[in-house]
Amino acid sequence: MYNLLKGKKGIIFGALNEQSIAWKVAERAHEEGAEFVLTNAPIALRMGQLNALAEKTGSQVIAADATSLEDITALVEQSMEILGGKIDFVLHSIGMSVNVRKKIHYTDSNYDFTAKGWDISALSFHKVMNVLYNKKAMSEWGSIVALTYMAAQRVFPDYNDMADNKAYLESIARSFGYFFGRDHKVRVNTISQSPTPTTAGSGVKGFDGFIEYAEKMSPLGNASALECADYTISMFSDLTKKVTMQNLFHDGGFSNMGVSDPVMEKFE
Ligand code: NAI
Repeated sequence: MYNLLKGKKGIIFGALNEQSIAWKVAERAHEEGAEFVLTNAPIALRMGQLNALAEKTGSQVIAADATSLEDITALVEQSMEILGGKIDFVLHSIGMSVNVRKKIHYTDSNYDFTAKGWDISALSFHKVMNVLYNKKAMSEWGSIVALTYMAAQRVFPDYNDMADNKAYLESIARSFGYFFGRDHKVRVNTISQSPTPTTAGSGVKGFDGFIEYAEKMSPLGNASALECADYTISMFSDLTKKVTMQNLFHDGGFSNMGVSDPVMEKFE
């Protein structure tokens, strides 16, 4: 370990179970010397195993529905009290589509479900940054990261309305990143991760074929949740101070591929 986050304070959204990308980020942040608050939706806290992670990393858990400005405000205020000052890093690792859950086809969207999924998966990122910005809760040279997927740029038919949510999420990172950079010297980025076997990931129809295809297409193979955590830690560290408003692909090279030899072999 490199003490990359020694003395840094953070808030980590979205650790549900050991598979969660946010779970791995919390473990790695702890190893790198950070202190942080863990948060998730109240229902996830009832279902999940977050207390075990809190114990392991010496963290407190605060329930917050990321679509509620009231909850986020209380979360940020309490986090600053617990951690004793401003926040250096924030991970937004939240995604959910009701249309996907209910197996409703993209061409037949239920728009109440679309709106709910958009609020949770995309607009919540704006709400979190709104509170952090207006409360001046972030330290100078702080870093905010949200997780995204390449369906924001290219079509993956079964990714459904999450593709649109991710496009919106990535746009918020750019738009808010301008104001956060200009006014508070805080950077805002999205990390576009390979398909990863988690609760959210496995909910996508045909996930097994999908992850296998990405593995065969990527010269370095798919990036794991732990590798995603490592990259996220580097984005929270002082080694990446001038990286902002970017969508950063962390996918073993997948996003620049046309076709690979192992995939071609299947057609020859
Ligand atoms: P996960 O299922 O472990 O995490 C999703 C989290 O969102 C859960 O902890 C859940 O409780 C939380 N959440 C849902 N509604 C919420 C609400 N209203 N308020 C607060 N939190 C809420 O799955 P995973 O894969 O770790 O997902 C984390 C992020 O990574 C998501 O943004 C996902 O889209 C993204 N991602 C995942 C990939 C994958 O293949 N698993 C690939 C690329 C990006």
